[in-house]
Amino acid sequence: MMVINTVVLSIICGSFVVYSNCLKDWNNQRLPATSVIITFHNEARSALLRTIISVFRKSREELIHEIILVDDFSDDPSDGLELAVIQKVKVLRNNKREGLMRSRVRGADASTAEILTFLDSHCECNVNWLEPLLERVAEDKTRVVSPIIDVINMDNFEYIGAASDIKGGFGWNLVFKWDYMSAEEIKRRENNPTAPIRTPLIAGGLFTINKSWFNQLGKYDTKMDVWGGENIEISFRVWLCHGSLEIIPCSRVGHVFRKQHPYTFPGGSGIVFARNTRRAAEVWMDEYKHLYYNTVPSSKYVSFGDISERLDLKKKLKCRPFKWFLENVYPELEVPPNQALLYGMIKQGEMCMDTMGHFADGSIGLFHCHNSGGNQEWSFSEDGSLRHLDLCIVLPSNTAGTVLELAHCTPTHHSMKWIQIHNKNMFKHRSYNLCIDSRDVQSQGLIALPCDETARTQQWKFIIN
Ligand SMILES: *[C@@H]1O[C@H](CO)[C@@H](O)[C@H](O)[C@H]1NC(C)=O
Repeated sequence: MMVINTVVLSIICGSFVVYSNCLKDWNNQRLPATSVIITFHNEARSALLRTIISVFRKSREELIHEIILVDDFSDDPSDGLELAVIQKVKVLRNNKREGLMRSRVRGADASTAEILTFLDSHCECNVNWLEPLLERVAEDKTRVVSPIIDVINMDNFEYIGAASDIKGGFGWNLVFKWDYMSAEEIKRRENNPTAPIRTPLIAGGLFTINKSWFNQLGKYDTKMDVWGGENIEISFRVWLCHGSLEIIPCSRVGHVFRKQHPYTFPGGSGIVFARNTRRAAEVWMDEYKHLYYNTVPSSKYVSFGDISERLDLKKKLKCRPFKWFLENVYPELEVPPNQALLYGMIKQGEMCMDTMGHFADGSIGLFHCHNSGGNQEWSFSEDGSLRHLDLCIVLPSNTAGTVLELAHCTPTHHSMKWIQIHNKNMFKHRSYNLCIDSRDVQSQGLIALPCDETARTQQWKFIIN
């Protein structure tokens, strides 16, 4: 736990890069007031107090409508209660552990200002941090804006200004990371270094949003637990459902980065993180979710619960496909070539293509479809490989009647390349007029025969899951 004393407190009101065009006379600007929402669980009192004091000290009084503290069932209820005596501070306490997302939604629901500002419980707001955020949101309610997050060293509380030429991004593991702007973008910004930075992702805890838009947009996914994955989810949702995310260089808030997360994770942090992230991927990423599963295969075995409400929301808000996000918001994120995006089962009537538990050199069979993946899970990728995990269906020779086999895919050999023909209902080898046929499946397994679109045994339906 962090303990800070008054000596430390007095030296931390740190310096930071001030751009001359940030120094406008904000006092003459009419801006809406905000509710500040801070959730915490077993936060050090000193850190929490420091956050609140900095909100009051560094903000114009009339812009702070209230501060809502949501105590997410901390061990000691007096942590929050003692702060409730401060004017404009309201404290809500959960009577069981709810996690960040449900706590934030509870705070937002209780708030009475038109604008919400979410902060973490261990922050220090800097001079004029609030006005530039409010200005952007008041101009356009679909903007979700965050400050530059400066670093407060957790050992000595030193305040270190962060770079302002970075933005939030991620890799296919769906873990947040900071990306440097391209040289071109840095150059473009030279004349206007305080212009808002469009960012694919927000880092998480700190942002300002119009409350009515937050509500319309579906708040948070309240079926996510504890912490983690929610920043990816809300970022995807904002962009795909017709909003935008910005980092505002004139606004700076310090954040204590710690080596260990103070939240304890019931169920283990890895599982909770994977579950939350999977919910985001399943709802928002369309076929690109498979790139996440390919990168973090273990996540496939974590159940993600019911997402039907979130899918309904996506439909209701007419949100865009994930491909749009990749093309327009985050073109820097490379889609690896030849990755399978088509995953599912391959059906013929009630039967499904099945590895029958065979490995390399084994044949392929048919089995009643059981809809639970396993040996019936196939992918088909742009390079023509038809695969189950890392096994591909291979044509061992180009003679009609040859029995198809499973073989390790990498690197994909031409004997493993297939195309879908005849309304995508048949799988034909790329080089020969031979199609996958089931007529001898009982005695030998699947074979290759001259393509015949009248043959029922060559008709397959790829059912995407
Ligand atoms: C927030 O959005 C609502 C709904 O669009 C709008 O009526 C309201 O004026 C906005 N509030 C502010 C302060 O911008």
